[in-house]
Amino acid sequence: MVRQSSAWMSMAKKRWPLMILALFSLSTVMVFFMRAAFDSCNNTSSTTRNEDLELQDKERDRIQSSTQVGSVLPSPLKFMKSKLVLMVSHELSLSGGPLLLMELAFLLRGVGAEVFWITNQKPAEPDQVVYSLESKMLDRGVQVFSAKGQRAINTALKADLVILNTAVAGKWLDDVLKEKVPRVLPKVLWWIHEMRGHYFKVEYVKHLPFVAGAMIDSHTTAEYWKNRTRERLGIKMPETYVVHLGNSKELTEVAEDGVAKRVLCEHVRDSLGVKNEDLIFAIINSVSCDKGQDLFLRSFHESLQLIQEKKLQLPSLHAVIVGSDMNAQTKFETELRKFVMEKKIQDHVHFVNKTLTVAPYLAAIDVLVQNSQARGECFGRITIEAMSFRLPVLGTAAGGTMEIVVNGTTGLLHPVGKEGVTPLANNMVRLATHVERRLTLGKKGYERVKERFLEHHMARRIALVLKEVLHKSKINS
Ligand SMILES: *[C@@H]1O[C@H](CO)[C@@H](O)[C@H](O)[C@H]1NC(C)=O
Ligand SMILES: *[C@@H]1O[C@H](CO)[C@@H](O)[C@H](O)[C@H]1NC(C)=O
Ligand SMILES: *[C@@H]1O[C@H](CO)[C@@H](O)[C@H](O)[C@H]1NC(C)=O
Ligand SMILES: *[C@@H]1O[C@H](CO)[C@@H](O)[C@H](O)[C@H]1NC(C)=O
Ligand SMILES: *[C@@H]1O[C@H](CO)[C@@H](O)[C@H](O)[C@H]1NC(C)=O
Repeated sequence: MVRQSSAWMSMAKKRWPLMILALFSLSTVMVFFMRAAFDSCNNTSSTTRNEDLELQDKERDRIQSSTQVGSVLPSPLKFMKSKLVLMVSHELSLSGGPLLLMELAFLLRGVGAEVFWITNQKPAEPDQVVYSLESKMLDRGVQVFSAKGQRAINTALKADLVILNTAVAGKWLDDVLKEKVPRVLPKVLWWIHEMRGHYFKVEYVKHLPFVAGAMIDSHTTAEYWKNRTRERLGIKMPETYVVHLGNSKELTEVAEDGVAKRVLCEHVRDSLGVKNEDLIFAIINSVSCDKGQDLFLRSFHESLQLIQEKKLQLPSLHAVIVGSDMNAQTKFETELRKFVMEKKIQDHVHFVNKTLTVAPYLAAIDVLVQNSQARGECFGRITIEAMSFRLPVLGTAAGGTMEIVVNGTTGLLHPVGKEGVTPLANNMVRLATHVERRLTLGKKGYERVKERFLEHHMARRIALVLKEVLHKSKINS
């Protein structure tokens, strides 16, 4: 889930204003790109400068209206009006967990809930990312205060609902509530987005059996938690709800905007030096061993060899790895780059630094590769984001990917590990040769997202859970 790391953040600080802007209003960044790249865009080249300005106005209107959408459309979360919700975030960063919780905070604000936010672990010195995310929340009427003080305790006692985000947030219960923990547990909903071993610590999750419910992003992850908590920790999961995520409204807007997509596409391809007719296969995940960029590059190299052996007449193939971070996973990434040099495929492989603005890349590529290894992704939001851009997905048959991608219909699955290298290479060649097939897979993926992975779908699923949890907490208090 985690798209950014703290090392990246320190780098991002220099550029944070743009990053933050990008995060909350991709459309704004789009406009920025549109101005930067307008002339080089062949399909919109008939658009005049005036239309360009009009487009910007439209964008602005849309940004303004999108902040009010919650109150315009009937929301499945309407029953949360005037309810008092305390959100406990383990940290505040540009990573998946906190951002999702923040999205939920805004959805709840949109229906008139009173939302309070505390962050359990904050950097000691002033931090610009934290500052600007908090300002954003304050702007939207979320009340932000210290996780440690009396106000946090009083709010927890008074709240209708307390949402703990990620397993690690469990530490806050004992640290702050102390002897009052049992009074709060019956109204706690625990939202879990992770599936790695080091989260299974008693100190984090010992209260898990006693909360009103756990909400988990995929069936695989929920099963895994049930198993692990029972077998490793000897505790039992509470009532567990699987809630698949949905795409944010901002991303959906970009995905639906043909002009914007084409401009972003041209801009990114230009910057990478990739021609319009070339084919791009991309992984968009922080570079790390679990995400399988190494195996992806091996598959990519194999696919180039296959094409050569079979003398296939194809456009040039490119591999793009979005999520480079030479400050964090230096050793792993150095190996990747070494492999690229050794195989002499440096003209075909492009590394892009970590970024929150994935939309330009989704607009520019032809196929998303989701190559997460071992148990796979907990959910893998990038997969549904790519599908909303009509991209087929080549994914590992593991984790959340299996619940999103329909093998043979919206993408093609390959096994995890070394066994997956050749199947993935074959799938890449397949999608490169069969253009119709590739486009059909993308279209089917898009339809699947429209059916079940949009923001309002997620809101409806969350609404069912919140209703039950509220009901239960009333009975138990
Ligand atoms: C852009 O124009 C060139 C030549 O006019 C054409 O070959 C190419 O397919 C066009 N690209 C798009 C995205 O329309
Ligand atoms: C733009 O591209 C689309 C296909 O993507 C094509 O149908 C349309 O005619 C093109 N428009 C211009 C002005 O070239
Ligand atoms: C759960 O544990 C059982 C027995 O240890 C195992 O057979 C099963 O595959 C596990 N399921 C998951 C999803 O890990
Ligand atoms: C990418 O990140 C590295 C440091 O990790 C930095 O040196 C480099 O300038 C960045 N590249 C771009 C294009 O921002
Ligand atoms: C996906 O479909 C292909 C082709 O039908 C098949 O060979 C492969 O075993 C399937 N993989 C999974 C995980 O279902």
